Amino acid sequence: VTWSAWAAGERHRILDAGQWRQIRDFDAVGPRGTVGGREVVSFASNDYLGLTTHPAAIAAAHAALDRWGVGSGSARLIVGARPVHSELEHELAAWKHASAALLFPTGYAANLGVLTTFGGPDTLICSDERNHASIVDGARLAHAEVGIYRHADVDHLATLLDTAGHRRSIVVTDSVFSMDGDVAPLDDLVDLCRARGAMLVLDEAHAVLGPEPDLDGVDVLRVGTLSKTLGTLGGFVAADGAFVELLVNRARPFIFTTAPTPADIAAARASLAVLRSAEGVALCARLRAHVGRIAPGHPSPIIPVVLGDEQRALDASAALLDRGLLVPAIRPPTVAPGTSRLRISLSAAHTTAEVERLAVALAELSTPATVGS
Ligand SMILES: Cc1ncc(COP(=O)(O)O)c(C=O)c1O
Repeated sequence: VTWSAWAAGERHRILDAGQWRQIRDFDAVGPRGTVGGREVVSFASNDYLGLTTHPAAIAAAHAALDRWGVGSGSARLIVGARPVHSELEHELAAWKHASAALLFPTGYAANLGVLTTFGGPDTLICSDERNHASIVDGARLAHAEVGIYRHADVDHLATLLDTAGHRRSIVVTDSVFSMDGDVAPLDDLVDLCRARGAMLVLDEAHAVLGPEPDLDGVDVLRVGTLSKTLGTLGGFVAADGAFVELLVNRARPFIFTTAPTPADIAAARASLAVLRSAEGVALCARLRAHVGRIAPGHPSPIIPVVLGDEQRALDASAALLDRGLLVPAIRPPTVAPGTSRLRISLSAAHTTAEVERLAVALAELSTPATVGS
């Protein structure tokens, strides 16, 4: 079989499963732009506070470009470290109430780095069944035994931890789940980890509106991303200084890759300053109000509208696009078969009128949908 024949066969397999994906360009600033020449408002981005276009972040990136150029030229441990990297790390650590933090190229790389550094053949990694793909891949790469517990089921997790024996154990969870927008039972997870001496790995990529967990007395690695709420690009881990030093020395996705660009990092510093100011509080309040209009009481800006089969989700997404609203259909393998959905992602950058348009369009969809999973 030639490689071309193999690739054609794989293509057909994906097409037959109704899961073929294609990139479409979105020429946009913030949520407004054009797709294929059509003006749309996007409800698909993770730019929860609109910081991708914040003037302070843009100015900081420009200044960093002027001072350091477009790239860092090598890994941090060689000559890629600029002062801006460690400055942001100090600020991230303070924000997350940790003694230290370490930047990674992406949140994806941060999860790989954490799970391969702390997990190994002598470790049990317990992972929520709806965790992000980067956690799934990190656990695989760690060569640890992996126990998958039912979504947010702390009793099931406890029975898995019972099998750890003398091994070190890790509990890893999204704090806000990326396709459902629901929140992990953090207080119970913290209690369980504390009682069992398990390391808690908390992926807070989507935790713009909380939860803000009480992590007292538990060993914890807080994974985050600069690429969503902070509007730039990069990932990080905030933790005890000894854990962070170990990551510097062992985490291959940190060691063997080029340091993030100074412009991205400088922009993230500016975004973090906005987030932690009165302006950030106001942006979060605005976002919370938008969520309340679409799904009252929902804890995050990710709102799933579960429709069932792939075609229903695709049809609903197309119907919304006809109205100038870009809401992606999410299908297997990203979500479980039979739970294809619209994934609405709200931002403080949306106007109240845009959110209203979405609410009206959702109500008009011929297939009645329940907001939520
Ligand atoms: C829960 C979760 N963790 C990690 C990531 C990866 O973050 P990044 O986009 O910075 O690689 C994502 C992104 O989709 C995510 O949803």
